[in-house]
Amino acid sequence: MEKRPAVFDQVPASARLVVDTGNLAADDGEQDLIKFRVLFEALRLLNYDVLCLTSGDIAIAEHLGLMGTPQQAFRVLQDRDGGSEVFNKRFPDHGVTANVASLDPRTTPAERATELFAGEGGDASVNILILRHSDSQVLADIAAKAPAVDCIVCPSEVDEPHILSKPGARPVVVTAGRLGRHIARLDVAISASGGRPALKFADVPVTADLPDDPALVKLYKQYQQLVSAADLLESYPRLPLPDGLAFEGSESCKRCHEYEYGEWILKPHAEALNSLKKVGSDRDPECVVCHVVGMEYQSGYVTEEKTPHLRDVGCETCHGPGKEHNDSEGRKPTREPKMGCLACHTPEKSTGYAGHEEEYMKKIVHWREPAAAGNVKD
Ligand code: HEC
Ligand code: HEC
Ligand code: HEC
Ligand code: HEC
Repeated sequence: MEKRPAVFDQVPASARLVVDTGNLAADDGEQDLIKFRVLFEALRLLNYDVLCLTSGDIAIAEHLGLMGTPQQAFRVLQDRDGGSEVFNKRFPDHGVTANVASLDPRTTPAERATELFAGEGGDASVNILILRHSDSQVLADIAAKAPAVDCIVCPSEVDEPHILSKPGARPVVVTAGRLGRHIARLDVAISASGGRPALKFADVPVTADLPDDPALVKLYKQYQQLVSAADLLESYPRLPLPDGLAFEGSESCKRCHEYEYGEWILKPHAEALNSLKKVGSDRDPECVVCHVVGMEYQSGYVTEEKTPHLRDVGCETCHGPGKEHNDSEGRKPTREPKMGCLACHTPEKSTGYAGHEEEYMKKIVHWREPAAAGNVKD
């Protein structure tokens, strides 16, 4: 979010239209609501022109009292049977008008797109239709029955935006990407000889080297404070462990596995909670869950004050809750639930992992050869 202004500013404010395609709310839990409220404010700070919200988004926005507030700078279009309203933005300096609407082809026939943009047509206008669902049949229907549509935005299944239509084809069919790490840009060029404006699509990645916008950095800090104040770690849902198993912490392994402990403590897994502290997210369950031991289970991590022994990616994250193994002086083997690497090293959170599994494994070696004597301290 804090890097988006640097991307938007590549186009002068008087020549740009910024659209969000909605689906802002993942769910309606306490943290989702905090996030939604902050996101709404972020989109205002970012000077979005229009948000095309789903009915789920609208329900939450209404519940939070965010609809139609005086400080709301953008227009909100709402998905309805028959399609949304149409948003227009005129660019007088360029002699062009952009029109945006959304439609769900599962409840509304594709022809409806023609009526939506009726009267919005003309050479110097660009009609953009946001679809809530798409398949080849829907796209073919719109191309055949709604020639006024210049550009269709389909739901995204991958992070990067893509152009799906053939070069030169109309409508231009694109996806906007996911997770906000890319921005889909559409340049409109008006031809001097008349005719429909030409559209050019580009994928603009929001990269880490772009400058931060101070207002959005501040807003994110506020988000972290709201999350922290809501004590979400305490109320996180926790599953019971089977047969009286329990987490006892990495220190409990040290007396018998001194060698392994001594190797583990030097590696990044033993720093995982500190990394969150450095960025101020150590009380955000959406982060903490992968940076500690057993947060999803009873007897697992709660907070640093309550469960200091379970901070970081400790022994029991990967080897399972240790009580039974400890109580039996190591005679009963460790057992499930154990987490595999992929549970945390997801493509989203660990971009370098896929394809480098062996290197990652080599970097965490803390064990002697399994058959070697002295694996366990006598
Ligand atoms: C009282 C001593 C003792 C403690 C405490 C202890 N272990 Fe062990 N551990 C052993 C012994 C003994 C073995 C068996 C070695 C063998 O038979 O090769 C073992 C084996 C293991 C193994 C390999 C076999 C298996 O069960 O997977 C792992 C992994 C392991 N321990 C992890 C841990 C972890 C994690 C902890 C802390 C929660 C821990 N141990 C605490 C003594 C201990
Ligand atoms: C799905 C599990 C998962 C979640 C959720 C998660 N992380 Fe991580 N995090 C990881 C993994 C795995 C790494 C190591 C990535 C690598 O080096 O490949 C990591 C690394 C980091 C690092 C870098 C440590 C360093 O200095 O290299 C920071 C900072 C961090 N995470 C912060 C966060 C924040 C903030 C959140 C919540 C917004 C979060 N993480 C949520 C798994 C997760
Ligand atoms: C990120 C996951 C992870 C963490 C954290 C971790 N281990 Fe391991 N451990 C492994 C893997 C993977 C192996 C390789 C052998 C295997 O698959 O059991 C292993 C091997 C071992 C072995 C040798 C097992 C054998 O069969 O001889 C012991 C003992 C052990 N770990 C103890 C510990 C202790 C004690 C800690 C904490 C101080 C710890 N581990 C932390 C993943 C982990
Ligand atoms: C519970 C979540 C979790 C699991 C399971 C997990 N990791 Fe990690 N891993 C992390 C986090 C978080 C970090 C970042 C630690 C930091 O620097 O703060 C990390 C960091 C690493 C790093 C350091 C990367 C670097 O940039 O140097 C390696 C290597 C690694 N993990 C390998 C593994 C392997 C191999 C496994 C499986 C045996 C595994 N991890 C299982 C969460 C996890």
